[in-house]
Amino acid sequence: MDKDLELQSMVIPQEGFWMPKGTSVTVPAVDDPWWLIYWVCVITFFLIIIPMAYFAVKYRRKAVGQRAESQVDHNQLLELSWSVLPLVFFAIVFVMGFRGFLFLYVPPANATEVRVTAQKWFWTWTYPEGFSVGGKGAEFVVPIGEPVKLVMTSTDVLHSLFVPNFRVKQDVVPGRYTTLWFQATELGTFPILCTEYCGTDHSNMLAKIKVVSKEEYAAWAKKTADSGATVDAPTGEKLVNQYCTACHSVDGSMRVGPSFKGLYGREEELADGSKIVANDAYIMESIYTPAKAIAKNGCAVAPCPNAMTPFQGVLSDPQVRAIIEYMKTLK
Ligand code: CUA
Repeated sequence: MDKDLELQSMVIPQEGFWMPKGTSVTVPAVDDPWWLIYWVCVITFFLIIIPMAYFAVKYRRKAVGQRAESQVDHNQLLELSWSVLPLVFFAIVFVMGFRGFLFLYVPPANATEVRVTAQKWFWTWTYPEGFSVGGKGAEFVVPIGEPVKLVMTSTDVLHSLFVPNFRVKQDVVPGRYTTLWFQATELGTFPILCTEYCGTDHSNMLAKIKVVSKEEYAAWAKKTADSGATVDAPTGEKLVNQYCTACHSVDGSMRVGPSFKGLYGREEELADGSKIVANDAYIMESIYTPAKAIAKNGCAVAPCPNAMTPFQGVLSDPQVRAIIEYMKTLK
């Protein structure tokens, strides 16, 4: 699958040896304690290793049966300092970490609220303007310099949304809402990864955040809101490639679910033996509430598995109608 390869070759912009480039105001909350701990570890490493090597040579046993020259068993200053200094260090790490946690956990009150739905195996973002963008490899556009709050839930299993360049990561849980926020400081495209093992295509559950200027964002939002209502086959084809082709082929080959080729208008036999014509109503029902009618044939295994998650709330009615327009062309 070319789409998968293209997605997997996505590069996370780097900065130096250790870190992805930090491009959100949320970055210092994670990086500052990280660098503090890093440098304290580096310094302590040499403070311990160099004297240790020196003592190992200086006080090595020089002859068989050699006796110790002294038996120091107590040093008040040394013992106090190796207790108090780490205490001070850990107290600083705790305060930094806790402040960072609160900063990351509480989105600014004026943040733009975007609803995010995770499902096997893609993300859908519903913008405040009312339109949705989603699918495998989807590009989510956000304005630079403005806080964006994601209110996230899942329709099936646990997922986790991770934007390395923003240093934000949050579990996405079915039946509950979790939030995450960021405020981009740099124009560019930054990968989104799923970091909760969620099944077969977990490693391909990739998408992008595209940071643009405020004017560009407004223009994009208007254009996307308008195009969401376009009911034609090309729009439907784009939607099918985004949302459906992981499980449904368009050329008659067998995948998890029935192929879309020749589906429209065909008489389908259902798993319970009844027959139904694959008309607009049946297709819309199958997209919104797939479990209602399971096809018997046309899948890699018969009857077809009840494996599809409902797309109610993910695809709008015009989008479903565009998909049906496209299906009509797949004779
Ligand atoms: Cu979704 Cu891993």
